[in-house]
Amino acid sequence: MQRRQFLGLAAATSASTSWLLRADATPTPATEDAHQYVHFLQAQNPPAVVPEAKWKPTHPDILGPYHVGGAPFRGKVTPPLEPGELLVIRGRVWSFITKTPLASAVLDVWQADHQGKYDFQHAGGKPVRAQFRNRIRLVTDEEGHYEYETIKPASYRAGEQVRPAHIHYLLQAKGHKQLITQLYFKGDPHLKADPWGSKSPLVIDLQKIKNERGTYLQGVFDLVLDGAV
Ligand SMILES: [Fe+2]
Repeated sequence: MQRRQFLGLAAATSASTSWLLRADATPTPATEDAHQYVHFLQAQNPPAVVPEAKWKPTHPDILGPYHVGGAPFRGKVTPPLEPGELLVIRGRVWSFITKTPLASAVLDVWQADHQGKYDFQHAGGKPVRAQFRNRIRLVTDEEGHYEYETIKPASYRAGEQVRPAHIHYLLQAKGHKQLITQLYFKGDPHLKADPWGSKSPLVIDLQKIKNERGTYLQGVFDLVLDGAV
């Protein structure tokens, strides 16, 4: 017996057509897509940009004193069983230069908890770096999408002022200007008096979603990055 026969290769060679997909084969059904993804290149029109609804770089905001660099990459901002109203934020990051979604953009997201406190304020004035409570980084997917789960932060007192509830963002993408901003929530009673929130167009509406597993809030927050300076 020849070596190839011993290995069974002779049979494979003689029936090589069996390695090809038959012309009448049915493709494997596509996975159901819960996010209603539309491939950007196939889309007739790119989806509307929110919240500013037009092509302009996203409004910047203050960094504030509570940013900590190097947060872990994860999709859930809060620790397990964190008290508060469950909130899911999703959106897309866009390039103002190319008017296309930005893949691999890095988002730093950080926020106060349901009592309006940052992790500093629970840890003797120092962030517990290993835990990075209520701080994450995310990377946008190949079509610029991102999504995270958290709880709705509360407003908090900062000196003489009460800051409306907000979530901080720091966004970086290759070839684009770094963006520091914040998102706010429509209907917040402290927005009007806040020097930053009152000037910001980045106030999003939250929807209450009910499903068989419970209730949560959902918001969409898209960002448009300007070109590098
Ligand atoms: Fe803040």
